[in-house]
Amino acid sequence: MTNVPESPLTCMGSIGTYFARFVFICSSLYISHTSSSSYHSLTHLNQNMPGIRAPSNYSEEPSRHPALKINAKEPFNAEPPRKALVSSYVTPTEFFYKRSHGPIPVVDDIERYCVSVKGLIDKPKELYMKDILSLPKYNVTATLQCAGNRRTAMSKTRTVRGVGWDVAALGNAIWGGAKLADVLELVGIPKFTNTTLTGGKYVEFVSVDRCKEENGGPYKASILLSQATNPEADVLLAYEMNGEILNRDHGYPLRVVVPGVIGARSVKWLDSINIDSQDCKGFFVQKDYKMFPPSVNWDNIDWSTRRPQMDFPVQSAICSLEDVNVGVNGKIAIKGYAVSGGGRGIERVDISTDGGKTWKEASRYQKAGIKYVADDEKSDKWAWVLFEAEVDVHSNTEIVAKAVDIAANVQPEKVEDIWNLRGILNTSWHRVHVQVRHSNM
Ligand code: MTE
Repeated sequence: MTNVPESPLTCMGSIGTYFARFVFICSSLYISHTSSSSYHSLTHLNQNMPGIRAPSNYSEEPSRHPALKINAKEPFNAEPPRKALVSSYVTPTEFFYKRSHGPIPVVDDIERYCVSVKGLIDKPKELYMKDILSLPKYNVTATLQCAGNRRTAMSKTRTVRGVGWDVAALGNAIWGGAKLADVLELVGIPKFTNTTLTGGKYVEFVSVDRCKEENGGPYKASILLSQATNPEADVLLAYEMNGEILNRDHGYPLRVVVPGVIGARSVKWLDSINIDSQDCKGFFVQKDYKMFPPSVNWDNIDWSTRRPQMDFPVQSAICSLEDVNVGVNGKIAIKGYAVSGGGRGIERVDISTDGGKTWKEASRYQKAGIKYVADDEKSDKWAWVLFEAEVDVHSNTEIVAKAVDIAANVQPEKVEDIWNLRGILNTSWHRVHVQVRHSNM
């Protein structure tokens, strides 16, 4: 169920279950990593990061599904094949895109793992897993999308910098965890706080992974305190994904999930939370994930002129077809996803088979048997919708998809108009080509 807290009894029960399931993960991890290099790193635990450590190389990476398309091996960045992505409303964890900037951290002792909450607050605290697990648990169905989704297509107009992604750098999961608003109450910050009495206005999340962009330091990001303390923003400290304990690739043991916002702010492998008067000064907030106009290049860029990107814009893509499809003729089923940021639902998805001159509306759905209406309480507001349409193709055709959200925001027609040097937020109309092969009979 979405966004409904489980009873405290279930929560207490889940602590025991959580640790029992962890012991299993931990022992299989140990068995699979008895190489001399991992033994060496085990003897050099960083005392500042109790229970969790960040390897300095890629010798302890988890295993992954062989069907994933690997866009970068080290750090690991991969997405599922298009068709697999839209074969279910909830993306199976193994097919959920994986976006990392360094080696995947390792938890050696879950009982010693804790998150320190500090900064401009009266009551700094170290929170252990048992403290997080004793808060009400919420399940929030939310689509996480990397700002670099569809970057490869943007790079075709003019080269951009960054890992190349096709259309599957996103996924829709059921995230289980405590609300950040409840966690912050434990350190004396009430719900719906914009600024603390000591001037805290931002919440910074710091991880343990080592990223070259941070000169070997950890990945970090921040959000506004007003969003963090608003229970309706559904910001989670998640320890479960799709009903299972979070796996290592996706942030085990604890990650932030900021629904409706680009994936970069959903910090994995959480180490600390800082309440600050300013937003995070880290690379990924100040020197990356900002949207520049097409006129800005690497010679004239001034990072300080733009705000860090937060909500993602309306997006859609056809996933039942590749960019070029040869030998298709007759009726074809078109299937894809549409999603918008900030909790804005999808009002419409239009499909064209003449490059955008005429359009027909696709049908949209989320859960089986429940009609999707964008702002209905039964619709998952942070989640994508899948769409379907049947089209008739008898000659070479460009099929186009464009989505409209409930604020009537529409995807832009041309990628050239939104080109930016980092190749983020390519939300232009999604186009695929079908080349018909006529039989000789
Ligand atoms: N958190 C940490 N600690 N390190 C990272 O590299 N990548 C971010 C975000 N959180 C990242 C991180 C980015 S850019 C994205 S898009 C999402 O995690 C990807 O989450 P996923 O790998 O679970 O899909």
